[in-house]
Formats: sequence, structure tokens, C-alpha cells
Amino acid sequence: MNERIALHPLNDKIAAAVALLKAGKNVAFPTETVYGLGADITNPSAINRIYEIKRRPTNHPLIVHFAEMNQLEYWATDVPEPAKQLAEHFWPGPLTLILPRSPHVPLSVTGGQNTVGLRIPDHPIALALLKALGAGKALVAPSANRFGRLSPTSASHVHEEFGHEVSMILDGGPCKVGLESTIVGFYHSTAILLRPGGIPVTSLEEILKQKVIVQKAQNITLRAPGTLSSHYAPVTPLEVWPSESIQQRAQELSKKGLRIALVTWSTPDYFSQDSNENIHHFLMPADSIEYGHHLYATLRQLDQKGFSRLLAEAPPDDPAWLTISDRLQRASFSTAIH
Ligand code: TXA
Ligand code: MG
Repeated sequence: MNERIALHPLNDKIAAAVALLKAGKNVAFPTETVYGLGADITNPSAINRIYEIKRRPTNHPLIVHFAEMNQLEYWATDVPEPAKQLAEHFWPGPLTLILPRSPHVPLSVTGGQNTVGLRIPDHPIALALLKALGAGKALVAPSANRFGRLSPTSASHVHEEFGHEVSMILDGGPCKVGLESTIVGFYHSTAILLRPGGIPVTSLEEILKQKVIVQKAQNITLRAPGTLSSHYAPVTPLEVWPSESIQQRAQELSKKGLRIALVTWSTPDYFSQDSNENIHHFLMPADSIEYGHHLYATLRQLDQKGFSRLLAEAPPDDPAWLTISDRLQRASFSTAIH
């Protein structure tokens, strides 16, 4: 197909999105991680509406998305050297840096804090939109889902979440990564992992040539809703079980008459050989990148199938699976058995 013809309608959509954003409306847009719900950073009422639409407490900060590396020091001040190294290496990409806020960032974006979360996303539509917005502009955007729920990884997910409450949803297809960005803060020049995400900690460490401190959710000092214990949750209660005991747990629950979705990544015969009609088996990819890409979309689909309980097989104990373990743990928190 002639590329110019294919691009033309997209340019029209970007122009329409820019006009809406400049008129103070909210536009959902694709990124490589998950879809974002955007507002023009210079428009206070559009920023407030994000909190209303998401039903998110206003002290939870939003990420500022922009397109050009030379804007880093427009939105942040006193950027430490390791932050510059990470930005140079991973942007555009699934990395959010928490840095001292510049006066260009309103406090309504940062939840009143003097730090700001910044990222250049790696998606052609997001980048085209951000470039078209022009100098001195950026998009503040959380994930385009209700507070505490699963992040959307396709335009139809955003539509399910918000319907007509957003003025426009730019459709960029399914998100390449499918999990949110890795969030890194700094204490002097030490990098601290605030949320595992699309970039593994080991890759950060390779670039920094220093250990990244992994901050545990229980003793957070920086507010980050994605680090609340219960987050990213499907509506159907979810439990996470080790490979050895998940089948037994499924049988136990099915005896009580519960319809179970058994979500595994490993393939021992007994999963597929179980003929219990109350247990429905869903096999996920055994590769962590592929698993991450499908996780939210799968949980969303399972949520609509009327199961009484979702049982997920615990991921391998391997750094490559850290983000997935983190999300499954948070998604299952409210059903955890004590
Ligand atoms: O991949 C992503 O990061 C997606 C896409 C749309 O960019 N965005 C996203 O936004 O996941 P949200 O709002 O759902 O989660 C952003 C996280 C929250 O946990 C928030 O608290 C944290 O970033 N955050 C933002 N600014 C912060 C700050 N100044 N200090 C600490 N945490 C911050
Ligand atoms: Mg979110």
C-alpha cells in the first residue's frame, strides 16, 4: 500500500487529538507499555478531569510524557548523572525517571511533591502526538484505567473502561510491552527501583555499572499508587499458587462448586489431562516477555467469562520474571489467604 495514503488518516487523527487537547479535553493514546489517559500539562482543568475520570486520589502523581531528549532539563532540575545515563540509553522506552520538578511542572501533576515522573514513550503515535503538541507542552498521563484496576493494552480496553468519558481514543493496536514502565528514583546518585516494569533491573545495572536498590512495597517513602499492595486487579478474585500445589487448590475449590480458571505457564501433563469440568485451563507463554505482553489482556478476558476464581501459577524465581511476579502479587492481594 502507498505509505502516504496509509499515513494520511493518522495525521488527521493526530491533528484532531491536538486540537482537543489544546481545547482542554482528555485524549487516550497508545504507548509501548499500556494506553495512557492524556491531558495538556498547561491546562489545570484537563488535569483535574483525569483524576475524576480515573476516580484516583489527587495526591497520586501523574507521569509527564514528552518527545525530545533535550526537554529533560525543561521539566526537571538537578538531573543526576545516572539519570542522564539511563535516559540516554533507554529513551524512548519503558522507563520513568523520578527527578526534582522544574517550575514548568504544576504541583497538581506531582501530587504536591517536589519530584516529577518523566518519560519519553516508544510508540510512533505517542511520539507524533507529543511532537505535534509543540514546544513547552507535554502530556500528563496515567494508565487509562480506573484506579486500582488492570491497565489497558488495547484501544478497546480503554473504551471498556471509560466509554465516552474521554473525547478521543487514538488506536495504536496492542501494546508491544503490555506492562507499565519501570520507575526509578534517585537518592543522591544511587538509583532506586520504585516499580518494576518493562525494563529489567539487570539491564539498568548493566548501564549504570552499579547496583540498583530495590525498594519494597511495604516501606515506600515515595508515594506511587502502582506500588500500593492491592493494584492492577481483575474483578474476579485471583490467587497465585506454586506449580506443585496449584492443581490441588483448583480441585479443592471445584469440589465446592466453584468455576475455576487455571492460568499456567508450565506444561506438566496433569494440567491438560484433568477432565474436571469446573476447571478451565489457560496456557500462557513460558517466555517472560511474551507472558508480560499477554498478561493484562488475558486477565481482562477471563474477567468476562464468569469464573468464580482465577488461579495463576507462580512465575519462575528469576529476575526476568520480577515484573510479572510483582503484578500477580498485587492483583491477588485482596484475595490472599492468610
Ligand atoms: O508505562 C507507564 O508508566 C504508563 C504509560 C501510560 O506511560 N503510565 C502509568 O501511569 O503506569 P500510572 O499513573 O498508572 O502510574 C504511574 C506511577 C504511579 O505509581 C505514580 O505514583 C508514579 O508513577 N509516580 C509518578 N510521579 C511520581 C513521583 N513524582 N514520585 C513518585 N512516584 C511517581
Ligand atoms: Mg496505573
